[in-house]
Amino acid sequence: MKISVVGAGYVGVVLSAGLAKLGHEIILVDIEEEKVNKINEGKAPFYEKGLDELISEVKDKIKATLNLKDAIKDTELTFICVGTPSRKEGYMHTEYIKAVCMEIGLTLLRKQEKHYIVIKSTVLPGTTEECIKIVSDVSGKKMPNDFSFAMNPEFLREGNAVHDFFNQDRIVIGSTDKEIIGKVKQAYQGLDSPILETKLREAEMIKYANNAFLATKISFINEIGNICKKFDIDTNVVAKGIGMDFRIGPHFLRSGIGFGGSCFPKDVSALAYKATEKGYAPRLLNAVLEINRDQPMKLLNIMDNKLNGKIKGKNIAILGLSFKADTDDTRESPSLQIIKELLLEQANLHVYDPSAMEHVKKLFPHLTYSANAQEAIDSSDIVLLLTEWPEFENLDYKDKHVLDGKNVFDADKTHLRPKNYEGICW
Ligand code: UGA
Repeated sequence: MKISVVGAGYVGVVLSAGLAKLGHEIILVDIEEEKVNKINEGKAPFYEKGLDELISEVKDKIKATLNLKDAIKDTELTFICVGTPSRKEGYMHTEYIKAVCMEIGLTLLRKQEKHYIVIKSTVLPGTTEECIKIVSDVSGKKMPNDFSFAMNPEFLREGNAVHDFFNQDRIVIGSTDKEIIGKVKQAYQGLDSPILETKLREAEMIKYANNAFLATKISFINEIGNICKKFDIDTNVVAKGIGMDFRIGPHFLRSGIGFGGSCFPKDVSALAYKATEKGYAPRLLNAVLEINRDQPMKLLNIMDNKLNGKIKGKNIAILGLSFKADTDDTRESPSLQIIKELLLEQANLHVYDPSAMEHVKKLFPHLTYSANAQEAIDSSDIVLLLTEWPEFENLDYKDKHVLDGKNVFDADKTHLRPKNYEGICW
């Protein structure tokens, strides 16, 4: 099939490379020339495990371009993967997605064949219907005869996105038009994943409910963890114990400084905001966000006690800046919140991360950026572990206080723990 993908973020690029590997011809559209050039050179425009290799393998099947109209004209199926950023309080911006729909509408004025459009971006229930109206108003054409829409949420994790593309737990296709459902199935042919057909709004909500549930599991185990800490109990052992119940499952029960990234904080806030706007007070979602906001402070309180409240002028090693391991992404990273708090207290920070330092240097140019983790440890009075990078397991912490906010040394690695070690919830 000839497929266009709009948006060369991590969803769009992984989708393009994955669909190309399944045998399709892909035109990938973005507004940034630098990204387009990189992809055309057969390289990934950002770091994602395994993506460079996959793109160079399928480079003959992907063409990147700045020209959206030509991409629509030359393909039959379009996946929209542009960002839907949200403000802190949860309001979600849909102007990028709507601008793309406007362009599609204009292109359809001159296209005879039926065009199939799939929304992959995370959008609140009702948004795809707004997109349908835009395309219809601009082109004067009708759904489902001239064009059609489906909603196909993505569940890829950053850092594991390539693996996740080829191993999807399920493919959700929201639409009532059998033809587009058939086209989307054809696009994914070759993957061994069950397919769930739903209505548009159901597909949109499945994505939010999925992320909200996972975020709830994390805030739940963090709350249990905060209670465990009062009883001197290792939460990781408790998580292992409850995770063996098949009704609960072992995943997303790692306690720590809370969830970050571009998805959980944004999506839970957007769902809570929209629910409130609709007249429903989302008490559980608000509690999930509140627990998450407080969690980094728990680690700072432990540190405060260790240093008898004397943080000013202390040398503190910050190991880990990205919101999780295997990515250079620092969006909503709890590590950055901790850095801000410590700067307010006038601490001297010695910072190290194996992949995310360049981003953070732009935000905080005056921190001391260490050449490696050991140098940061050696220059400091106390060490904070804020991303679960495996290399942090094998360092010489000497007799420094080490506070672990991310399960670097979990219940299976107690024998590796440094001498003066304490965990946030264990
Ligand atoms: C998340 C979802 O897992 C994906 O299914 C979804 O497609 C994606 O959001 C999205 O909406 O685009 P991602 O944000 O890449 O993926 O990362 P996760 O691995 O889910 O981790 C999110 C945050 O939760 C990280 O800060 C991680 O450290 C934290 N976390 C995760 C915990 O604190 N404890 C856990 O047990 C698991």
